[in-house]
Amino acid sequence: MKHNAQQSRKEGIMAKNKQALEASTSRRSFLQKGVMIGGAGTIGAGLLSAGLLKTNFAHAHGATSSAITKGDVAILRFLSAAEILETDLWQQYNELGGIQDSEVPGGKGSAAYIAALQVLDGDMPQYIHDNTEDEFSHFTFINAYLTANGAAPVNLDKFRTLPSSKATGAQQIGRLTNLMQLTVDTSWWTRYRSRTKNPDFGDTFAQAIPGLSKGKFPAIPRNDGDLTPNDHIQAIANTAAFHFGFIEQGGTSLYPSLAQRVTNVEVLRILLSIGPTETAHFQTWHDKAGNAKVLTDPTNGLVFPDLNAPPFGGENFQTNLIMPEPTVFLSRTFPVVSIIRPTQTQGAAMGAVQALTADGLFIGQSPEFFAVLHDLAQQADAAQRGF
Ligand SMILES: [Fe+2]
Ligand SMILES: [Fe+2]
Repeated sequence: MKHNAQQSRKEGIMAKNKQALEASTSRRSFLQKGVMIGGAGTIGAGLLSAGLLKTNFAHAHGATSSAITKGDVAILRFLSAAEILETDLWQQYNELGGIQDSEVPGGKGSAAYIAALQVLDGDMPQYIHDNTEDEFSHFTFINAYLTANGAAPVNLDKFRTLPSSKATGAQQIGRLTNLMQLTVDTSWWTRYRSRTKNPDFGDTFAQAIPGLSKGKFPAIPRNDGDLTPNDHIQAIANTAAFHFGFIEQGGTSLYPSLAQRVTNVEVLRILLSIGPTETAHFQTWHDKAGNAKVLTDPTNGLVFPDLNAPPFGGENFQTNLIMPEPTVFLSRTFPVVSIIRPTQTQGAAMGAVQALTADGLFIGQSPEFFAVLHDLAQQADAAQRGF
């Protein structure tokens, strides 16, 4: 982060905001202690005497809520970076496989790649376009909100150094992410189908497409040589489909995980309003991935197995079980419940960085890029409610 006059002013504003917030927080923590010590019988009196009504009134009218804390800024800045990275990868998908128009400009499309994507669903280009536009709006909004609150927006432009696909249809510009050497973790498939396991309990999950989790595979054609034979470009489209699910399930978990450490109610509203759009994307991609054509890529042996037949099949693999199955949550003593998983908040930002790195998205990026991203994640993970 640059330290200049503007930055110092912003820090001054944030410090003032923090003071205001600490005043309201101390009222809240006093109240919480009071209620716990007083027990159930004295809750009513405790609430009144500790000024909860006053605090709620102030919250409802935005008085105590007007301060956004250093932790809130750190969480928003990390999310902005994550959204910029998401936008960069979705832009590459849209240039070759989506709809290029005034809403999502750039690229001219690759007919063979689009045809392969449409084997999964005729509307794939529209969905890719819409997901891409959403990602643009996510980082643009978060950056504008940061600026409006006296905090520095995130800009990763200097890291746009990775090569574009050479396939006809792609723009030739520098990229932040690499879609041509992916190792896709497809365990989200079984994680959302399990009725007994939850990653927040340390549980692990089988891969839906074991081959994709080993080796490095393109999710977009690297050049026009990748457009044939048929089962090769189809394997690339299949890879993209499972990668779409991987990316969007990540956003689906990241927002609720970080929301637990947001302080300001309006910032919480932002996380609670953007996060479920990631889930809307995920749900769509989960459905489409189930339509991936069963095949073996003749160029590299990558297998997309029939997930409805042995040794796959059953509830953990069946392709139309796209809604989250109820599973254990918080404690195994509670009844199972249909939930987003994981949502554990500790280390959530760094966990997301590690997952994206293991995915191969940043192959070719500079040490400085990783340093900046790790710094943003560390600051977000250091954020605590009330500070
Ligand atoms: Fe997003
Ligand atoms: Fe997303």
